[in-house]
Amino acid sequence: MAKSKSYSCNDCGAVTTKWSGRCDSCGAWNSITEEVPLSAGPASKSLGAKRGRTVVLTDLTTKETPPPRTQSGMAELDRVLGGGLVPASAILVGGDPGIGKSTLLLQAAASFARAGLKAIYVSGEEASAQVRMRAQRLDLTDAPVKLAAETNLRDIMTTLEAEKPDIAIIDSIQTMWADNVESAPGSVSQVRAAAHELTTFAKRKNMAVVLVGHVTKEGQIAGPRVVEHMVDTVLYFEGERGHQFRILRAVKNRFGPADEIGVFEMTGGGLSEVLNPSALFLSEREEPTAGSVVFAGIEGTRPVLCEFQALVAPTPHSQPRRTVVGWDGGRLAMILAVLESRCGIPFTGLDVYLNVAGGMKITEPAADLAVAAALLSAREDVALPAETVVFGEISLSGSLRAVGQTENRLKEAGKLGFTKAIAPARSKKGEGTGVEVTQMADLTAFVGDIFGAG
Ligand code: TYD
Ligand code: MG
Repeated sequence: MAKSKSYSCNDCGAVTTKWSGRCDSCGAWNSITEEVPLSAGPASKSLGAKRGRTVVLTDLTTKETPPPRTQSGMAELDRVLGGGLVPASAILVGGDPGIGKSTLLLQAAASFARAGLKAIYVSGEEASAQVRMRAQRLDLTDAPVKLAAETNLRDIMTTLEAEKPDIAIIDSIQTMWADNVESAPGSVSQVRAAAHELTTFAKRKNMAVVLVGHVTKEGQIAGPRVVEHMVDTVLYFEGERGHQFRILRAVKNRFGPADEIGVFEMTGGGLSEVLNPSALFLSEREEPTAGSVVFAGIEGTRPVLCEFQALVAPTPHSQPRRTVVGWDGGRLAMILAVLESRCGIPFTGLDVYLNVAGGMKITEPAADLAVAAALLSAREDVALPAETVVFGEISLSGSLRAVGQTENRLKEAGKLGFTKAIAPARSKKGEGTGVEVTQMADLTAFVGDIFGAG
């Protein structure tokens, strides 16, 4: 039987059985390449009658001690890792080009080296001299990090085998080239092969490996999603180019909570940690203005306050605009629909712009009420009372649902000088936080109370 060939798209990772000039899934041109299987084994044949060995089964009662962790001393990084670096773990760090991944990981390598780990940093993108210059700028030249500029995977693995580091950083996985795979570096087959080799090597040799991955326009780690399945931990490094804030977010973590964030600030001397992100995200606030609302949110295990800003203006177009930055567009449409059908406040003929200040991205439904408040405040041109935070989930019926971790939200608000909160009915009162909670049963009551409308 002739072996059937398979092809995949280098941009989105879609797999097809025939070559074409344009990917059917993502529309990219000239991105389809042939997939070469890792080993030319009988992948498509059935296992046949040959017997395997018996696998040892254990029960669940076996006592396992939690993995020993090494703290880097960069508290924000350690938090996102779930309390420090776990030996023999594989970590993928994704992010847009230029966001600061190489800077972060050079600083991390230096911190782990200073904490006593043997650290190797392999750059496939920059020459050693460039990395050394960065180290100088970051004041890291005294840290015992070993550096290599190399893309040949076989040479890198041989070196790692000889050096036996505790942690190896591969910057980036897209530049690695495995000579047993016949496609260009950066192609799906190459990225997959290199990631597979490095992660299995890490497990076998008890070495932690950090793979750096670039992200495509669609916000996925370039090439295949499969790399995300191979590793224990997936971190995204996010931020807006124009802003100095950077957020390291755990989207998957076998050794700690997902959704945990670490906040950094990009300065002339590298990334510095932001231990109180709420203060940073709110630092530019002045007098209360219409359209601006402070949301008391939770990111991972910690509370973070941030500001929603809305602008509502008559549209010159037949189709009004709905532009959102830092929040989900679908969720905005839902809130507009609830405001219109449950509270009788239409947004037809009005352009709506919604933005989360400081480049933060919010995914919690608990932000619904803050979004509705920002939209109403902008539409009515009425500012919310000063020193007020808002949180709560809105249901399609227009009622408000209490959300988790109310006390943590209120405590953080109190710490930052807020004295009032608007929250759903049946929320906790937050005694001792210095924040007075006004409870609202539904959106109509909120509209009537705060804006005297509805
Ligand atoms: P880099 O770590 O090279 O990004 P990535 O590896 O994600 O592509 O960082 C690139 C940007 O960071 C670059 O535009 C300059 C800026 N930067 C600073 O602002 N301060 C610094 O100390 C360093 C090293 C970089
Ligand atoms: Mg880089």
